Amino acid sequence: MGNDAIRGDTAPEDSITIVNNASGAKVTFPVLQGSCGPKVIDIRRLYGATDMFTYDPGFTATGSCESSITFIDGEAGVLLHRGYPIEDLAKHSDFMEVCYLLLYGELPTPSEKDTFVHAITYHTMVHEQLHKFIDGFRRDAHPMAIMCGIVGALSAFYHDSTDISDPYQRMVASYRMIAKMPTIAAWAFKYSLGQPFIYPRNDLTYAENFIHMMFATPCEDYEISPTIARALDRILILHADHEQNASTSTVRLAGSSGANPFACIAAGIASLWGPAHGGANEAVLNMLNEIGSPNRIAEFVDKAKDPEDPFRLMGFGHRVYKNFDPRARLMRESCHEVLNELGVDNEPLLELAMELERIALEDEYFVERRLYPNVDFYSGIIFKAIGIPVSMFTVLFAVARTVGWVAQWNEMVEDPNQKIGRPRQLYTGYEQRPYVPLAERG
Ligand code: CMC
Repeated sequence: MGNDAIRGDTAPEDSITIVNNASGAKVTFPVLQGSCGPKVIDIRRLYGATDMFTYDPGFTATGSCESSITFIDGEAGVLLHRGYPIEDLAKHSDFMEVCYLLLYGELPTPSEKDTFVHAITYHTMVHEQLHKFIDGFRRDAHPMAIMCGIVGALSAFYHDSTDISDPYQRMVASYRMIAKMPTIAAWAFKYSLGQPFIYPRNDLTYAENFIHMMFATPCEDYEISPTIARALDRILILHADHEQNASTSTVRLAGSSGANPFACIAAGIASLWGPAHGGANEAVLNMLNEIGSPNRIAEFVDKAKDPEDPFRLMGFGHRVYKNFDPRARLMRESCHEVLNELGVDNEPLLELAMELERIALEDEYFVERRLYPNVDFYSGIIFKAIGIPVSMFTVLFAVARTVGWVAQWNEMVEDPNQKIGRPRQLYTGYEQRPYVPLAERG
């Protein structure tokens, strides 16, 4: 809004009037109230009425869509999926039920659940030619690079579910992605090891199947630990959706042009990969390894506090939660359970993590800025305990978040107010200037 001071007054009839102090012009905008959460100023008329855009890098104060899937109250540390608290879902539900809830808006009846689980289970195999596609990657490729490539390529394998105007095709594509993501993820891992791909088994649960495809080999029977399967199922629930985060917004933005669902989810995977988002769980483990011992924690905390140093404590802070992330609390609980049950409670990295958590929670810098440990802080440690290699951490996040992405993508496609996403900018480059021929330059 340039350099003009703008002041806002909320009118009683739920509108807000802004006054341009330079020109005295007034414009009134409606204020919308969702079912929960803060009110929202509807600025769709802003440019037409004022010739001005808003400037909000990182969308810190901008709602980009209407959604009824997930609600977060970052101040109170509340996370609801379709109205159900994440704590209840993590303790009483399972991942398949949460998938159904996110996709359809209600918890399934027993027969709806059976039908859904059956449909997902019978979509877990991937096109046989995908073997060759994976073979094209270097052996040392990061599994997230393989995920981006393979998921984007699914549109070339499943043409019959790319017509986004057909609700049936949209649902088939959604089921395919939820079902095939663990297979693709496990195969990306097997490829890095040089081991044969393990096919899905229809007698196993979603989490068990993933563990089986990751760790079994054709040479011997592989027994799946119920502790690990339970922990993985909970991790999947805790990462299933999280409102309009960077990767979900990326999926929506890619999808807003009418792109096919496989391409949109590949875009979401690419966004998730970054260390400020899903890549943080991998970064946490790398950081803990770098710290190495509790007597070096202070040095790293000081680095994180130094405004001249770009280093940040990985696994701390969140754009939305300014209180303990409820998922982090549950993950912390699971982390201790897993380590106790697997008999690795003397894991030095966990001890280091707990000490780092304690110091950071007491440090004025972190307290003032309300930087609490986030979900990635603990998930990395659980993954390590259950034998998942660091490079696969973000891949697991992608497997879990796929249902959130497809639920949000479906909601967007069905939204009558949906438009192609096209943000504006505050341009700071040259004004128009004449072209200078090459011979006259220098
Ligand atoms: N370590 C040290 N200082 C931090 C950290 C951190 N992890 N996070 C934020 N700060 C400081 C930041 O420097 C700033 O200080 P000042 O006000 O003096 O300039 C202040 O806290 C506010 O930070 P911000 O960058 O304005 O906050 P943001 O909302 O833009 O960033 C974040 C959120 C998650 C990107 C950031 O906290 C971060 O980089 N954390 C580490 C990476 C991480 O754990 N990411 C996982 C996020 S949770 C998983 C998910 O949902 O994807």
